[in-house]
Amino acid sequence: MLTALPEGGDPVVVELGPGTGAFTEPIQRRLDGRGRHIAIELNPTMSEHLARRCPNVEVVTDVADNLPAVLADRGLSGADYVVSGLPWSAFTGSLIDTIAGAMSPAGIYTQFTYTWTRWAPPAKRQLHELREAFDDVAITPTVWRNLPPAFVYVSRLAPA
Ligand SMILES: C[S@@+](CC[C@H](N)C(=O)[O-])C[C@H]1O[C@@H](n2cnc3c(N)ncnc32)[C@H](O)[C@@H]1O
Repeated sequence: MLTALPEGGDPVVVELGPGTGAFTEPIQRRLDGRGRHIAIELNPTMSEHLARRCPNVEVVTDVADNLPAVLADRGLSGADYVVSGLPWSAFTGSLIDTIAGAMSPAGIYTQFTYTWTRWAPPAKRQLHELREAFDDVAITPTVWRNLPPAFVYVSRLAPA
């Protein structure tokens, strides 16, 4: 999920649905004080817990669909790297278009999917939507050590 995260500069990194924060601390370690790290979590209990645990993360209690407003409120023109832990149920309407539209031109969006669900209709629909919204959608090999095994869609607005 984080392998394409830029190692230099000051990227604007956004987590959607950080939940218990499985990606939050690894992102903080990778950033090491660089850039901005914004986490948008719908559940206030989760977001309060995350804000206490990770004081350097800007935790916002909101729905992912409000990503453009969350960036605009902070004077940011786009996200450079978006990491999604959102469940399928969150991908109603045009959320993938909203995410793509809120990213900087070289932006990268990563979304994991459990391998055993790969051929289910929601997963197929999501891949189709990613391919419509992004120029390049790479699919990583399955990480069998993950429980359950999963792979990652790495989507870019500009070809890699
Ligand atoms: C599968 S969990 C997070 C997985 C995360 N990697 C973890 O380790 O906990 C999904 C999270 O997305 C949040 N969520 C669901 N729908 C959302 C939405 N529309 N906007 C923002 N967060 C949402 C849920 O509250 C939950 O915390």
